Amino acid sequence: MNTYRELRTPVLTGHLREDVFRFLNDHQCPKTADHVLRVGDEARRIATLYSANPTAAQFAGYLHDISAVFPSHTRVEVAREIGIDVLPEEEQFPMIIHQKISQFMAEDLFGITDTEILHAIGCHTTLRGNSSRLDRVVFVADKIEWDQVGCPPYLKTIQDQLHKSLEHAAFAYLQYLWDRRDSLRVIHPWLADAYYDLKDMLSRDERRQGYDNEDSINL
Ligand SMILES: [Fe+2]
Ligand SMILES: [Fe+2]
Repeated sequence: MNTYRELRTPVLTGHLREDVFRFLNDHQCPKTADHVLRVGDEARRIATLYSANPTAAQFAGYLHDISAVFPSHTRVEVAREIGIDVLPEEEQFPMIIHQKISQFMAEDLFGITDTEILHAIGCHTTLRGNSSRLDRVVFVADKIEWDQVGCPPYLKTIQDQLHKSLEHAAFAYLQYLWDRRDSLRVIHPWLADAYYDLKDMLSRDERRQGYDNEDSINL
């Protein structure tokens, strides 16, 4: 598949899980089809733990990688074809722009209109500054249920941090990348925003907890 025009529109039955699974398999992406179901289910589980909308999380998880139907080398052209703004970092490393293409496809092909779901799909690879709780749920679920062989090297850290909070888990993955930033192909500006944003948020929370502890000592 090289252009958006060529894409066969999915059959919609009203059961998103089955519709996405069939769509990806019909386009010869069986591994992604398995991956998105696992991410959708994991996103639902995490959303339930951290008071996000479980159905929205599940839907965003199912749809987050539907742009896998376009191979990496076609993604910049496809993005331009459908009117997406392509950043220099995305031009340099086209894999990253799949998050924006999936967001467009979720709305255009699967009729998703909920902007929270669409935004969570659209930043699932990099996260972004001022991320919503749903963004963080889908981001973390995708990192836990990764689409490669074996176990991701950061899995245990993310899972441990997820016991503390959703933000700790998201930050653990960002910190993992940040520590290796010199060897990354690019640093997407949204990822840098997300990193500094969560770093600030977590250190503010720590300071606040420190004050609370002092208060309880003074009492
Ligand atoms: Fe992805
Ligand atoms: Fe994914």
